[in-house]
This record gives sequence, structure tokens and C-alpha cells, in this order.
Amino acid sequence: MFNIAKPCLNKHLKFLQYLWQHNKYNTSVDPSKTKQKNLQARQREIMARGLPNRKQIKDVKQILLVASGKGGVGKSTTAVNLAIALKIIEPKRSVGLLDADVFGPSIPVMMNIHESPIINYEKLMEPLINYGIKCMSMGFLIDEKSPVIWRGLMVMDALNKLVNQVAWGPLDYLVIDTPPGTGDTHLSLIQNLFISGALLVTTPQKVALEVTRRGANMFKKLDIPVAGIVENMSTVMCPKCMTEVPLFNNDTLSLAKELGINILQQIPMHESIAEGSDSGKPIVLSIPKSKQAQAYRELAEHVVTFLNEQKIRTN
Ligand SMILES: Nc1ncnc2c1ncn2[C@@H]1O[C@H](COP(=O)(O)OP(=O)(O)OP(=O)(O)O)[C@@H](O)[C@H]1O
Ligand SMILES: [Mg+2]
Repeated sequence: MFNIAKPCLNKHLKFLQYLWQHNKYNTSVDPSKTKQKNLQARQREIMARGLPNRKQIKDVKQILLVASGKGGVGKSTTAVNLAIALKIIEPKRSVGLLDADVFGPSIPVMMNIHESPIINYEKLMEPLINYGIKCMSMGFLIDEKSPVIWRGLMVMDALNKLVNQVAWGPLDYLVIDTPPGTGDTHLSLIQNLFISGALLVTTPQKVALEVTRRGANMFKKLDIPVAGIVENMSTVMCPKCMTEVPLFNNDTLSLAKELGINILQQIPMHESIAEGSDSGKPIVLSIPKSKQAQAYRELAEHVVTFLNEQKIRTN
């Protein structure tokens, strides 16, 4: 059958023997295993490099991220009212508000700031101040009506500028309003800065709670303490009789228990909150005696207690 001369066959056999002994010819090579080994080696290499060095923003003591997995649940409304409420309950402390939502900045409208920042002698942007809060947002740097059509790297670059090229200090608290989800912006902030904690905002709806769970687990994995949950729009408040009616099936408590974190505050859905955001005079200032404003001040008290328990880390 084989048309190979005997010496030639011997040569072939010897060669095969050599390959076998030197592990170069292995009929049982599993390509998926090799791929996995390569992947593991690559992961080890990346892990060895470690995370980028976290830095403290110059003269900024503590940073709190306001986050949620879902869009439109009230992060910006919470961040704005919280920042002002912090200033109200602790007037001697300095408070900043960074709008890290590069694609959909809300802070210019909610804080009623429509100017552009000036550059100081150190070539840093001076934050714009309203209601005693130092603010910075992508919205101050671009035309209000222009869309931001950028790719990931450009967004990271813009974020880096909003964080590091602003004369923030001295600040006791910097509240960062983040975009929806748990994406590049959050990872970049967490990898580059000492974050004292994250505040999770959710509505008591299944779809929002599911992503809140994912967000909470991400922060836990990355060693960021979770300050607690703000349940927004938990009830709807009748503007006439002020009766509160539950709006959705409330599963927030069971999620909080499952995650081992507290619900810090429940905020009703009320037209005065939306009006305050739209008019640029948040409810804590526009109707300070209202139940809703009181809820934000209580939230600020919880946040201060939480921040006082956190270590102030420096470089
Ligand atoms: N408790 C509330 N009562 C009434 N309206 C509210 C309340 N909270 C938020 N809103 C309104 O809901 C809308 C969405 O709120 P907001 O912009 O704060 O959400 P967001 O989570 O920051 O959204 P995005 O994910 O797009 O950044 C706004 O018009 C705001 O005024
Ligand atoms: Mg927002």
C-alpha cells in the first residue's frame, strides 16, 4: 500500500518519535486550552501592571459619586439638591459639583449657570459658582445646542480635563453626578481617584432595581463603599392635599437587604422637584420648608455621617 522505501520509512518514524518526545507533536492538543492558557498569561501580565495610581484631586478632601444603572431615575436632581443641602447643613464646609455626564450634562440648567469658565494663572479652569457650590460641566464648555459626538477616548480626555484641569480646591466634598450605567466614566473615575463612596439612586421599579444591583456589585468589587440607596419617586404626592400614594411595587427594601446596604432616603415624585430642576433653583432653595426639601436635607445628614466614617486618603 505504502510506496515508501524502508530506510525512508525509518527516517519518518524517527522524526515522528523526536517530535513526540519533545512534545512538539501532540495529537491531543486542545486549541481552546491553549487559548485559555494564553488568556490567563495575558491576564496575569495585566494584573501585574496593577491599576493606575489613584490620586487625590489637589485640596479636595472627599469625593462622592452619585450613580445608577438606569437613565432618568433622578441622579442629577439628587446630586444637585444634595450638594446644596450639604452646604445648607454645613455652611462652613466647601462643596463642589462635577457633572461627569459628558454627553448629557444637566448641571448648567439645574444650577442655572450659563457662562464659560475662565482660565487662571495656573492655566486651570475656575469652577463656576452658584448657591455657594463650585460647579464644572462639559455644558459650560460647549454650545448648549451642539451634540457631543465623541468616541470613548475623547470622552475620557474630556473627563480628565474636568477633573484635573479645574481649580477645585479647597473643597471638603465633591459630589460627582455620573451618567447612567456602569461604564467607562465610572471605571475611569474609580481607577484614577480616591472615591469615598457611591450613592445609588433608583426608582422602585423592577427594571431600575435590577441594574441598581449590578451597580452596587460593581462598586463592591472595586472596593468603593456604597453610602446607600436613594429611592426616588417612591410615592406620588398630590400637590393639593399632599397625600402620598405609592407609585410602583416597592421591592427596594428587599434589594437593600440582599446587598446589605441602607435606603438612606425616599423622595416623593412631586412637580415642585421637577420645576426646581427646570428653573435652575432646586427645591431645597425654592421651597425650603417643604417636605421634599426636608427629605434632601435629611439625605445630606446621612451622607455627612457616612463620609465622616470614611478615611480621608491622600497620595
Ligand atoms: N422626585 C422627583 N419628582 C419629580 N420629578 C423628578 C423627581 N426626580 C427627578 N425628576 C425629574 O425627572 C427627570 C429626570 O431626572 P434627572 O435628570 O435627575 O435623572 P437622571 O437620572 O440624572 O437622568 P440621566 O440618566 O439622563 O442623567 C427630570 O425632568 C427631573 O426634573
Ligand atoms: Mg443626569
